[in-house]
Amino acid sequence: MLTTQQPVFRKFWHAVMPLAHLQGERPQPFRLLGEDIVLFLDAQGEPRALKDRCCHRTARLSKGRCVGGALECGYHGWTYDGGGRVIRIPQYEPDRAIPADYCTPAYRCVAKYGYAWVALEEPIAPIPEVPEFGAPGWRTIYQFHERWDTSPVRALENSFDNSHFSFVHRATFGVAAQPRPSRYELVQKEGGFYAETVIAATNPAAWQRVSGSAEPITQRHMRNAYYLPFSRRLDIEYPSGVRHVIINCFTPIDDGHIQLCQWLFRNDREEDCPEAMLVEFDAVITREDKDILESTDPDALVDTRRRGVEYSMDSDRPGMLIRKLLMELLAAHGESEVHR
Ligand code: FES
Ligand SMILES: [Fe+2]
Repeated sequence: MLTTQQPVFRKFWHAVMPLAHLQGERPQPFRLLGEDIVLFLDAQGEPRALKDRCCHRTARLSKGRCVGGALECGYHGWTYDGGGRVIRIPQYEPDRAIPADYCTPAYRCVAKYGYAWVALEEPIAPIPEVPEFGAPGWRTIYQFHERWDTSPVRALENSFDNSHFSFVHRATFGVAAQPRPSRYELVQKEGGFYAETVIAATNPAAWQRVSGSAEPITQRHMRNAYYLPFSRRLDIEYPSGVRHVIINCFTPIDDGHIQLCQWLFRNDREEDCPEAMLVEFDAVITREDKDILESTDPDALVDTRRRGVEYSMDSDRPGMLIRKLLMELLAAHGESEVHR
């Protein structure tokens, strides 16, 4: 599926960048669904998103600077408000009116969970709820946002696939001697599904503070959820009672490229497991996934039903349900899937 060719994805909120990256004088560029946008903070400190193109002589606005909550083009200083309207032209006499059509497109942009989220068109679904955010007894750890050379669908398949642990993650938590995946319970819900399973996981000595257990192998109770179109939640509960809740947004940059955003929520304390260790632990695991995912074809259709098999492995079922829900979403909006 070529995400830039499916207009319905423009009608969802996408996590674009941490608000912390918008402090300072430099506006920040981002490519969302193939569209070049620029983000900055307005005078109230709220994030704003405009098309990254000046209406004067087409310079990228991300080359400019933020001045008093407005965005000044770096070429001739035309200045835009958060709605995309030109509010200052330095070359004009002070009393000369600026025509109303001197503007660049503005997109819906909101702050949530410490991120700027953008919808290119009127959104048809809310940003997924994360009840742990700011809740007593929970700490929030911003882990990373980074570019991967893959597609959202490929990354989502991977995030629900428990048959790769024994191979991709055999150096970290995968149990090489147990390649058969545990069975998922899948429950379809409005806008996604819930998937639950229990897996055996290696618990290396170096990382035992992550699980809160000294056993060489632990059980991980995995409560997974998928949110249309490109987000997931993974709530891992260890036998110690420690919960390790990961939120991922697989933000579509353009065809074949995503930005993986990851937040972590934990119900333990810094002295139980330091934040630096948690960041390093998930970074190691994520690098293992990134390496194999970037070796896959971002667009090829690999649904095993094409080979006349209902499904070859239980662990393929969540990925197939993701595809089915995406196909239903496209059909409901009069679209069919576009491939290379
Ligand atoms: S191109 Fe932006 S002010 Fe001239
Ligand atoms: Fe993985």
